Amino acid sequence: MTLARRLLRTKPTERLVAEGGRGEGGELRRTMSLWQLTLFSVGATLGTGIFVILGQAVPKAGPAVVLAFALAAVTALFSALSYAELAGTIPVSGSSYSYAYATLGELVAWVCGWCLMLEYAVSVAAVAVGWGEYLNAFLRSLFGVALPEAITRSPGQGGGVVNVTAIVIVLLATWLLLYGASESARANAFFVLIKIAVLVFFCVVTFTAFRSGNLAPFAPMGVAGITAAASQVFFSYIGFDAASTAGEEARNPRRDLPLAIILSLAIVTAVYVLVALAAVGAMPWTEFDPGSTEASLSYLADLAVGATWPGLIVSFGAVIAIASVVLTVIYGQTRILFAMSRDGLIPRVFQRVHPRRQVPVANTLIVAAFISVLAGLVPLGQLAEATSIGTLFAFAIVNVGVLVLRYRSPELPRGFRTPLFPVTPALGAVMCVVVMAGLAGVTWLAFGLWMLAGLICYFLYGYGHSRLNSEVR
Ligand code: ALA
Repeated sequence: MTLARRLLRTKPTERLVAEGGRGEGGELRRTMSLWQLTLFSVGATLGTGIFVILGQAVPKAGPAVVLAFALAAVTALFSALSYAELAGTIPVSGSSYSYAYATLGELVAWVCGWCLMLEYAVSVAAVAVGWGEYLNAFLRSLFGVALPEAITRSPGQGGGVVNVTAIVIVLLATWLLLYGASESARANAFFVLIKIAVLVFFCVVTFTAFRSGNLAPFAPMGVAGITAAASQVFFSYIGFDAASTAGEEARNPRRDLPLAIILSLAIVTAVYVLVALAAVGAMPWTEFDPGSTEASLSYLADLAVGATWPGLIVSFGAVIAIASVVLTVIYGQTRILFAMSRDGLIPRVFQRVHPRRQVPVANTLIVAAFISVLAGLVPLGQLAEATSIGTLFAFAIVNVGVLVLRYRSPELPRGFRTPLFPVTPALGAVMCVVVMAGLAGVTWLAFGLWMLAGLICYFLYGYGHSRLNSEVR
């Protein structure tokens, strides 16, 4: 077989589905309901984006930041429809990695899996890094004391030595994940309900201070300001696809995965637009600080009431919100690696399942160690853009995958069909490329280097160990 044919070989959809659930030494357990899957995706999505990035995006778009959130949601929606279709057709754990393997071949699948590490492992490290700041905001309002900066910030961020709080939150999430997927899903559901309740509380409190005058002029920076803010807040939508990594642990994946993905995006969009509207209605947009990294929502809630207790509740919500992002995103990363390992592209240790707990224990511990080192020791402040570029690339592949699979295998049973085919997936792919093009040159450079490292790993290991290719020697 020629090199090109080997790199472009696809894995049959039926085989991907038939292998689902099975690892070395045991099987994953199908326990997750539609409700839990939806909250899993909401858990992975709703986090720092709304608690921090909202405040930084307002100076770019003015009160029209509300439209920026809606625009970013539309970009996400096209890809969400494609995710929903492929998750309902190929309900396995590898998410877009597995979809690419079924549609575009092994090399693209590997590249996609490598990008997903940016979306999952690297982004969760970036999110965990900020947890100490929220914890401190909460402790300061409650007890008037805070943990020392040496252990709540990363080296390079004023005063930071080792970000111990980031490591602690990663280890707590790992502990839960080792207990079992169903226990983690239950804990996550609880966390998500708290964070949504806190954001609803924020809306109620700040709407009392709503002044319509604060909304004028509505779009002081025009369309360019709105699109720039939309690119920035796109980060806050990353994660709606997390349910697609639970394909082998869902009770009724063909029906529930597409629904969970679309429902989670709808819930998150409604919350974001309402919170953004409440925020810009309560304070003139010119008073938002573009450099603010701390919980700007807490400040707004305090301002609206003229007391400090509302901010306390909001910072508690942020502490819980980030914990649930960390939990669900680490889960997603382990399941993607599980699927890649089963295909032979990474070492077998990642597919070993604990016979009693029915979770990939060694895989989870390796991922946790990697993320802890990254979060504890590397300053990741600028990382949001790098994770967005990797995510957008994976989203683009999923959109193309829908087009390919519909033409190549129209007969496959599909739990969901994206409407207005082929317009929606084609537009989805184009929109991903447009948002990617808007990202900074330095982000592209980092992305190029990351890809190069990925290709070297593939040719050193995956190419020679691929199960699909070893069968045709
Ligand atoms: N969407 C996730 C967040 O905003 C990554 O924290």
